[in-house]
Amino acid sequence: MATIISILNQKGGVGKTTSSMNVGSWMSILGYKVLIIDLDPQANLTAAFGIKDPEYTIYGTLLNEYPFKAFEVEKNISIVASTPALSGLERSLANEIDKEFILQEKLKTISNNFDVIILDCPPSLGLITINALVASNSVYTPLEAQLFSTDGLNKVFEMIHKIKNRLNPSLQLKGIFFTRYDKRKILKRDIMESISEEYPDLILHSNIRENISLSEAPHVGKDIFRYDHDAIGCVDYSKLTEEILRRENLTQYLN
Ligand SMILES: Nc1ncnc2c1ncn2[C@@H]1O[C@H](COP(=O)(O)OP(=O)(O)OP(=O)(O)O)[C@@H](O)[C@H]1O
Ligand SMILES: [Mg+2]
Repeated sequence: MATIISILNQKGGVGKTTSSMNVGSWMSILGYKVLIIDLDPQANLTAAFGIKDPEYTIYGTLLNEYPFKAFEVEKNISIVASTPALSGLERSLANEIDKEFILQEKLKTISNNFDVIILDCPPSLGLITINALVASNSVYTPLEAQLFSTDGLNKVFEMIHKIKNRLNPSLQLKGIFFTRYDKRKILKRDIMESISEEYPDLILHSNIRENISLSEAPHVGKDIFRYDHDAIGCVDYSKLTEEILRRENLTQYLN
């Protein structure tokens, strides 16, 4: 059975997709069998892996049109693509019973084929995100290291709490990590310190620094490790990934 991890923050542009892609890629390079599912109608992850106009998407699978169809983009790493049509999910499932459980049910059919399944969530707390949390074992939240970055974080915590109480008792918020960190900016340092005081057990030690290669790589359909193996983004994402793997007790390919 795969460990299912949601990368979630309702705030837009904080590094959810960049993290899903590069954490998943480093896991696959280490030897884990990884599936990443693009759950965002913006389909940024799909595009970042160079998948254009996919014939099969998560939308069709959630609507029961066909089973999961994943694209193997590199050794050990497959992607389930998204499409803008996914934004119509709520409407399409209006009369469906137990619509919060559809992704969980579908994932059971493929869970044995992977070690880790990563769910790249959209920047909202609607039905798609609820499905992700119901299906997940763990949640990790990226936070941009800047002023107001914790606005809305309480909503994310509340949502996780509700899902845990009502729909998925095994769900756990396992970590918060900082993205686009720039240690020259005192403001960012202050914010990080104050958040670390508030949530000491949740904060991961690995920070993702601001790195131009991280923003360039998706434009050529590559993860950071295959785009520029000298980039600081490689150091940061490999460290973060290994910290996550240890928190998940998935240490079989770690030294
Ligand atoms: N560490 C970084 N250094 C430089 N650029 C970054 C870094 N992390 C992310 N970016 C860039 O910031 C933008 C937003 O990142 P990303 O798409 O990963 O955020 P997101 O949380 O998935 O956004 P959304 O909520 O819209 O889905 C992208 O253009 C990405 O390339
Ligand atoms: Mg995204």
